[in-house]
Amino acid sequence: MYVEMKHIYKTFDGFQASKDVSFGIKKGQLAALLGPSGSGKTTILRMIAGLDMPDSGDIIIDGTRVNNLPASRRGIGFVFQNYALFRYMTVADNIAFGLQVQKKSKGEIKARVEELLELISMADLGKRYPHQLSGGQKQRVAFARALAPNPQLLLLDEPFAAIDARVRQELRSWLKDMIGRVGITSIFVTHDQEEALEIADLIIVTNHGAVEQAGSPEEICEKPQTDFVREFIDVKRWEAMKAVSLTQSPHPRS
Ligand SMILES: Nc1ncnc2c1ncn2[C@@H]1O[C@H](COP(=O)(O)OP(=O)(O)O)[C@@H](O)[C@H]1O
Ligand SMILES: [Mg+2]
Repeated sequence: MYVEMKHIYKTFDGFQASKDVSFGIKKGQLAALLGPSGSGKTTILRMIAGLDMPDSGDIIIDGTRVNNLPASRRGIGFVFQNYALFRYMTVADNIAFGLQVQKKSKGEIKARVEELLELISMADLGKRYPHQLSGGQKQRVAFARALAPNPQLLLLDEPFAAIDARVRQELRSWLKDMIGRVGITSIFVTHDQEEALEIADLIIVTNHGAVEQAGSPEEICEKPQTDFVREFIDVKRWEAMKAVSLTQSPHPRS
């Protein structure tokens, strides 16, 4: 396992936000933390990143217990829920931010920023400011900024929440494709089961601070292990999605 959460507990002012959370994610997987609002998804992501500390339990990344490692030393890229782009910085400067913090040379920063602008198909837009971009473009910049320092793990909190429904689907497949191409282990938070079912390799279902079930989309839909999962997941939607992907398969069995 590349990321392991072992018996994590976390309280905020007496409120239990994580209850005995355990799961593992393999290297290269795209995992989804899926659950209703307030079920503790962001709390889990922030603890993996080192932005919050668990009360007890172990967080293991690549075989090392990182509980006491500061966020800056965990090798993690984080895409926040609202992108949190720096408004007074250009696109290029936003992407360069983490590299500047690392005190990389000017030449190195320039080359890396150009490479990332190319990757997100925004090669000509480096001089723009965030307010001159669409929601989808802002998301791409936030993604590039998180990737710039070459993290080993990418965390994304509700990456599609602020995107128009119209382009959300397109961005989902774009993000999945990018993550696959970069080959980075990634965890994203969502309350939207369709999002999780469509792009995740592994789905971790959260409810009231606990993990209800972790498994592939097939396992979650076809073998729900708790009443909550059975009620939360709309199996009809899953069957419809499967039917569509069968008809779109490049090698249909006729
Ligand atoms: N810093 C905090 N202080 C107090 N309560 C918090 C804090 N962060 C989260 N919580 C509470 O923990 C619960 C889980 O929050 P969160 O992890 O953000 O859920 P989700 O991301 O699934 O919506 C919520 O009830 C929230 O109010
Ligand atoms: Mg959240």
